[in-house]
Amino acid sequence: MKPVMPNAQLDWDDQGRPYSRVFDDVYFSDLSGLEETRYVFIEQNRLKERFAALPADGRLVIGETGFGTGLNFLCAWQLFEEQAVAGARLHFVSVEKYPLTALDLKRALALWPELKPFADQLLAQYVAIHQGFQRLVLDNGRVTLTLLIGDALEQLPQLDAQIDAWFLDGFAPAKNPDMWTAELFAELARLAAPDSTISTFTSTGWVRRLLNAAGFKMKRTPGIGHKWEILRGAFIGWPAEIATPTPAKPWFARPPQPEGERRALVIGAGLAGCASAASLAARGWQVSLLERHADIAQEASGNPQGVLYLKLSAHGTALSQLIVSGFGHTRRVLEHLHRGVDWDGCGVLQLAFNAKEAERQAQLAAAFPADLLHLLDQPEAQAQAGIALAHGGLFYPEGGWVHPPALCQWHATHPSVELLTHRDVLQLCKVDDQWQAWDGDTLLASAPVVVLAGAAEIKRFAQSADLPLKRIRGQITRLAQTTGSQSLATVVCAEGYVAPARLGEHTLGASFDFNSDDLTPTTAEHQGNLQLLEEISSDLVNRLHARQLDPEQLQGRAAFRCTSPDYLPIVGPLADSHAFNQAYAALSKDARQVPDVPCPWLDGLYVNSGHGSRGLITAPLSGELLAAWLDNEPLPLPRSVAEACHPNRFALRRLIRGA
Ligand SMILES: Cc1cc2nc3c(=O)[nH]c(=O)nc-3n(C[C@H](O)[C@H](O)[C@H](O)COP(=O)(O)OP(=O)(O)OC[C@H]3O[C@@H](n4cnc5c(N)ncnc54)[C@H](O)[C@@H]3O)c2cc1C
Ligand SMILES: C[S@@+](CC[C@H](N)C(=O)[O-])C[C@H]1O[C@@H](n2cnc3c(N)ncnc32)[C@H](O)[C@@H]1O
Repeated sequence: MKPVMPNAQLDWDDQGRPYSRVFDDVYFSDLSGLEETRYVFIEQNRLKERFAALPADGRLVIGETGFGTGLNFLCAWQLFEEQAVAGARLHFVSVEKYPLTALDLKRALALWPELKPFADQLLAQYVAIHQGFQRLVLDNGRVTLTLLIGDALEQLPQLDAQIDAWFLDGFAPAKNPDMWTAELFAELARLAAPDSTISTFTSTGWVRRLLNAAGFKMKRTPGIGHKWEILRGAFIGWPAEIATPTPAKPWFARPPQPEGERRALVIGAGLAGCASAASLAARGWQVSLLERHADIAQEASGNPQGVLYLKLSAHGTALSQLIVSGFGHTRRVLEHLHRGVDWDGCGVLQLAFNAKEAERQAQLAAAFPADLLHLLDQPEAQAQAGIALAHGGLFYPEGGWVHPPALCQWHATHPSVELLTHRDVLQLCKVDDQWQAWDGDTLLASAPVVVLAGAAEIKRFAQSADLPLKRIRGQITRLAQTTGSQSLATVVCAEGYVAPARLGEHTLGASFDFNSDDLTPTTAEHQGNLQLLEEISSDLVNRLHARQLDPEQLQGRAAFRCTSPDYLPIVGPLADSHAFNQAYAALSKDARQVPDVPCPWLDGLYVNSGHGSRGLITAPLSGELLAAWLDNEPLPLPRSVAEACHPNRFALRRLIRGA
């Protein structure tokens, strides 16, 4: 049985309004959804005044239970746009178990012509919305929407955020009791910022009592339309009689916020560096992006085509969660790029080339919904791919190929990002509150914050030398498109991959060499890549006349992937490794200890690296993760996944292994 992520099952009334078949309830009031939203959520949380009072680098975080049609979000966004100064930001976090399909969302939002400018932007980004945390960056980063797709009680405990205003908008308590439980309200309290406010359309007595018991002070207030009364309130503190929620372990706690000027150096202009620069610039930071080459994307991120391939696990591992969230984010960013040249969402077909792979695919097909991946038998796979194939496989309809330099370029193009090329940073040192980047005797740049995004090269810095990063050389082969190869309609992967042509050339990849330090392309590896093509499809080999090609004449390029031992990227703040070992030495005797010692952070030093063979999927979202750590924002990933990517995990494991 397929554990599909069910989309909302809707009926539409004679005036075109959506109605939930499952909950037997309306998404918004019959009279005027807009008026009700504005009165119940916007007015009761005093958003007009609060938006107007935001400073230019200020931000308000709204949390919502029940995203539904996004009406509340769009109303909040519209008011924010009217009231907030340039530079201020809105972050909206909403949990939704049954997301509307894009078609239903479009139909529902068509009811509100005055919201059209905002609805259109939401609809354009409402792509690849799958289970877990899904981040949507709207209005050039002025507005961020973090959707938590899944049951509220499963998702909210994984959220790391401070919510300034809560909208409680489940269906009516009698019809949707799961959205109104003491357990869920305890999560709202855990996440509430000190002056958090809250409101809801219901005045049901037990809802009010449970919210009061959770630490909110709720008041009945006159309602609107059919609603005689509604509830508004404020967070007054965690109730004394209930044990306080366990804080994050000190080594995963948020480092103190950098104060003063919001200026950062990002070292390395590949996917990780460009994405980090973009995420910081969108938050009002001035970024200097330092790159040793003459241009961005000259190393791993410089291949003509890379594949948006999701190597998932059926067991919901941290890596698998990261991949689903990262894929969604990259896929949405790509909507801004030029399809056919910069990328193509042509789908990715992973062939079931042996019994073990077929079994793995069957497990994945049982674990994930069909719109993310589904099995194709051999005839279906051939029809999809447009070439003859020996096997069926697993098809990812929203996958495709990307020209990585275009994605880098898109990220690096921001008025607040200054690209400084030919800057090879050899050393970093801290003088007062500034990090200085040096090349021998030359001071290249300085700033209070530095992001190390130089893949495995970050090991050259004393501060990050301990991070266990390895280089794995890889080579791709470029093959000229032929009349016959024009029929290739999707990316096809077995052990290697081949993509439909970009500008007349297919990319065929890729070799893995754990030992070589030399980046000169070799004939042996081109031959190896041609062998990978034989395993994909001998029909395609024929169509490309690949057996007639002289391997000595083949063109391609080689670069280093940069991987960590657990295959997760390394993203977040860095600690002083010597001081870390001293501070938490007790763990080497008893791994369950949590010494009450703050982490000895290297204030202002951050890492975004270790993206292995899937940087297209992990690096852009890691830019958002990094900016969220730095700017004390809601994390774009579940807490457990952010911790699994944390730079401190290795030092921690080393200490514990000593136990
Ligand atoms: C052959 C091959 C095939 C691949 N195929 C895919 C694929 O199909 N799909 C996919 O998702 N991923 C793929 N990858 C992986 C993907 O390319 C990487 O994960 C991604 O490019 C990593 O980006 P990055 O920014 O971390 O590193 P890089 O792109 O290597 O960027 C690091 C940058 O930092 C600069 N730098 C380093 N140190 C310094 C310094 N001290 N001072 C100044 N500048 C510095 C470097 O010059 C470089 O520009 C492939 C990789 C290879 C090699
Ligand atoms: C009244 S609607 C929300 C309306 C929405 N705020 C809007 O602006 O259109 C309630 C929403 O809660 C969602 N929901 C119900 N039970 C849930 C649960 N246990 N976890 C998460 N979401 C849930 C429903 O699918 C529905 O979309």
